[in-house]
Amino acid sequence: MTSLRLAPGVGGTRILGIGSAQPEQVVTNHDLAKTMDTNDQWIRERVGIVERRFAGEKDTVVSMAVEAGSKAIAAAGLDPADLDTVIVANCTTKQPIPNAAAQVADLIGIKAAGGFDLNAACAGFCYGLGVASDLVRAGSSRRALVIGSEKLTDVVDPADRSTAIIFADAAGAAVVGPADEPGIGPVAWGTAGDLVDMIGMTERTYIFQEGQSVYRWATTKIAPIALRALELAGVAPSDVDVLIPHQANLRIVEAIAKKLRKEGAREDMVVADDIVYSGNTSSASIPMAMDHMRTAGKIHSGDVALLVGFGAGLSYAGQVVICP
Ligand code: UT7
Repeated sequence: MTSLRLAPGVGGTRILGIGSAQPEQVVTNHDLAKTMDTNDQWIRERVGIVERRFAGEKDTVVSMAVEAGSKAIAAAGLDPADLDTVIVANCTTKQPIPNAAAQVADLIGIKAAGGFDLNAACAGFCYGLGVASDLVRAGSSRRALVIGSEKLTDVVDPADRSTAIIFADAAGAAVVGPADEPGIGPVAWGTAGDLVDMIGMTERTYIFQEGQSVYRWATTKIAPIALRALELAGVAPSDVDVLIPHQANLRIVEAIAKKLRKEGAREDMVVADDIVYSGNTSSASIPMAMDHMRTAGKIHSGDVALLVGFGAGLSYAGQVVICP
């Protein structure tokens, strides 16, 4: 019988560098209150957002992904030629084909990259990180660029106050490569397809969501997924230095942190609150929060970070990573 040769794999992977990109236009709660029945106090109290960034005409899922991806490669101290795979997690590109990944790879200068888009809504980055890590471990990729990039303003009804006050535009990226000491734990992922009607898009135009139902689901179901990711990586809750959940709503973030602390996570665990000045940027929110926290000196190289994304599908994914 013919036996097939397998690519030589590696023992472990880690994040080598991260980067992010945001459009220039800052939109405050007061700006939104000029065009819809809402107010600064309600948004701060219910969602925790003070301001967010909206894309200008030139900003696209691809252009923001290129900026974030280029910064991640530079932060890793690498050149585009050192990468061979690009994964762009997103749910907001207007054209399904051509995919964003091929365009991003070309614009960054990664020649003949394996490239594909991945849609797991706001859980997309953690799904992409899990896939990239396994591709590198199995020897299918030398180094992979994983990006979450979203132009949510393209798919949000500006008159719908249940979504227009939450969502925003941005990209976040990570370079994944081989490591002697594992720096990316196994992914704990899944879907709850029976709850598919809770968040979606109407005929590929506007996002809708049953806010309260999603809120209840996220505040009850996501902490156990995060604990599962810890268990898979063999890490105790008390070992977690940084918690970076999808930045959907500050109250959801705080509820997840509270549950993890009941399970042994430390009081001094740093909890991402990037939503306050960035809004909910779907698949971009986790890598961008990580990048902003690194720049602000809130997290340090070697810190143990727990990531967990969740959103439409309903989809979720989380893993433990060592900060680059
Ligand atoms: O990222 C993907 C995953 N998505 C999520 O995780 C989102 C989860 N859901 C949420 O974050 C929250 O449910 C929302 C932020 C969407 C809404 O917050 P809420 O606390 O659940 O508000 P609500 O929909 O229960 O509305 C409460 C009240 C209502 O008024 P009455 O009926 O109590 O008089 C709404 O009409 O607040 C009113 N309201 C608003 N008021 C001012 C709803 N939206 C607004 C608004 N401004 N933008």
